[in-house]
Amino acid sequence: MSDTFNPDTPNIDAPAIDSPTTDPEPAEFEVKMASRVDRLPPYMFGRINSLLYQKRCAGDDVIDLGMGNPSDPPDPVVIQKLTDAASDVGNHGYSKSNGITNLRREVASKYHRKYGVSLDPEGEIIACLGSKEGFSHMCLALMGPGDTAIIPSPYFPVHMYGVILASGNVVALDVADPDKFLSNVAYTCENLTPRPKVLIVNYPHNPSSAVIEADFFVEVVRLAKKYGLMVIHDFAYADVAFDGYVPPSFLSAPGAKDVGVEFTTMSKGYNMAGWRVGFCAGNADMVRGLGTIKGYYDYGMFQAIQIAAIVALRETEATVLQQSQVYQGRRDVLVSGLRRLGWNVNPPKAGMFVWAEVPEPWKSQMSTMDFAMKLLEEGNVAVSPGSGFGAAGEGYLRMSLVENEHRLRQAVRQIGKCLSPGRKGADSVASSAS
Ligand SMILES: Cc1ncc(COP(=O)(O)O)c(C=O)c1O
Repeated sequence: MSDTFNPDTPNIDAPAIDSPTTDPEPAEFEVKMASRVDRLPPYMFGRINSLLYQKRCAGDDVIDLGMGNPSDPPDPVVIQKLTDAASDVGNHGYSKSNGITNLRREVASKYHRKYGVSLDPEGEIIACLGSKEGFSHMCLALMGPGDTAIIPSPYFPVHMYGVILASGNVVALDVADPDKFLSNVAYTCENLTPRPKVLIVNYPHNPSSAVIEADFFVEVVRLAKKYGLMVIHDFAYADVAFDGYVPPSFLSAPGAKDVGVEFTTMSKGYNMAGWRVGFCAGNADMVRGLGTIKGYYDYGMFQAIQIAAIVALRETEATVLQQSQVYQGRRDVLVSGLRRLGWNVNPPKAGMFVWAEVPEPWKSQMSTMDFAMKLLEEGNVAVSPGSGFGAAGEGYLRMSLVENEHRLRQAVRQIGKCLSPGRKGADSVASSAS
């Protein structure tokens, strides 16, 4: 069969359909999903979410450290701009699918200001409906059956399933030690046939909070050129960092634009998660590929949102920095509280999560999922079990910093109480482990 697709179906001259009364009784109608849907596992956080929902319906005050969904509002100036722009009747039609020019220009000037990176807003930047949409459609643009992507492990689900939905295969490499990650990338490229086509990186990393320094990306570019790898850097936590650490942009590495792109978002640092504003920037061919796919799937973002996003990028840098301070304060409360309970936790340098090892004796006694269910059932604290991010996350919990300091102190007290030796269930677990 030819690879070329002919969209013009020739006219056919079919005979008239039989009278409906002669049709046999139809069998029960069956919906048959495409095989790509069958490749998706059951949603790992389903058990936690349904218990959380039941508890809330029953009136329980659950402290939710599960999802990284910012709970603070955007800067008032941004909300005001959205209101004004939504009142302008000229903003309600379809907008430009790749984002209005001034928005892409604003992204280019932020890259220049913050990272010293020059980008052409016309060919090297595209706006997306949140970075997750852009990322998954980029996978569709680059990958097909037989193609392999290298991803970090444990993994943010779309890093795995964006590739799977594009019919690709995945090699997941341990993200904890950046040098080890890079040598594993080189080893995989040397030994896997056919070679991986795409390298997906994500720093600051979700869920593990691993971070890197700028020289990491210099090596990424070198490996990408050596092995013909296209690079996608998910830079969702670019704007959330602590103690003076500034997460480096992949695009600031020399030659990065030759080999890859970077996704950024306004969901996290700007508290605009529900607005669905993200960007892809870098290699012009990859940006064009994403634009082609998006041109078939969507008509772009509501123009009023794009206009307000310009104001956010241009005028609210100080608010974004303050928001990092807020997360830093919450991080300190949560990490010191958990350490007082005897947990082994490292304070993250960036991102919105604490990645905490499940303490003994529970780590040896139950799955991370069961431990998370216990904290929710008995302690009214919802967390994400690490196993939701692949097998490498087993033994860890991801706790997000979206509740305020007071609620985080309360969460630590409730966790402490639910794990205390006098508590039902805790005694038997503790004694069987000793
Ligand atoms: C690593 C990472 N990438 C992408 C996203 C998605 O962000 P967006 O809201 O821009 O789609 C998230 C959201 O949690 C994330 O943690």
